[in-house]
Amino acid sequence: MNLDLFSTGSEPPVELEPGAVFLRGHALPYVDALLPALESVMQAAPLRHMETPGGFRMSAALTNCGTWGWTSDRHGYRYTRHDPQTGLPWPAMPPSFLRLAQDAAGAAGYPGFLPDACLVNRYAPKARMSLHQDKNEQDMSAPIVSVSLGIDAMFLWGGGQRSDPARRVPLQHGDVVVWGGPARLRYHGVLPVAQNHHPRLGAARVNLTFRRAATTT
Ligand code: SIN
Ligand code: FE2
Repeated sequence: MNLDLFSTGSEPPVELEPGAVFLRGHALPYVDALLPALESVMQAAPLRHMETPGGFRMSAALTNCGTWGWTSDRHGYRYTRHDPQTGLPWPAMPPSFLRLAQDAAGAAGYPGFLPDACLVNRYAPKARMSLHQDKNEQDMSAPIVSVSLGIDAMFLWGGGQRSDPARRVPLQHGDVVVWGGPARLRYHGVLPVAQNHHPRLGAARVNLTFRRAATTT
């Protein structure tokens, strides 16, 4: 495994706070491999708008790949091995996804990251993600690797409490944010996405979030 295979020439990591790193354009060398793989994932497990336990429809459409997939419904949030919509196992994590996640985690100071879940969130203009913590995982020692593709978005980087002030981090196609260690449970979110067009993805932003959901496979 060569974690630095595609890292040469990319911009230096920017620390948002201890444990959290912003990697501008880090996914760009992977995009040609990621997009067809993403199409296959979305064909096997179609994007859908999940319902929150509070009965709201999430504005971003979601699917998963990997051993575990994150789902939400009236009963709560959880990871499942099967897509509740198709009854099939979630599609396997494409090799290009895994390579990017491991490369980005290594560049951010988290070598040996082995994600078993990848959430795919698709934001049409106006879709958003309110401030939340990623806390449904069993293994909090592993970081979160979050990859942005398509149109721009404003990421909110908050604190340890929902009410803490949130810093605004503009995210573009190819950007990656990695957080773990002391920053693993930080609140984060996405402001409503502005109308825009991207040459590769049209009027959409796709976020890939890589996680270690289970302590064992
Ligand atoms: C998430 O926190 O699940 C998504 C973040 C993003 O879309 O950038
Ligand atoms: Fe999140």
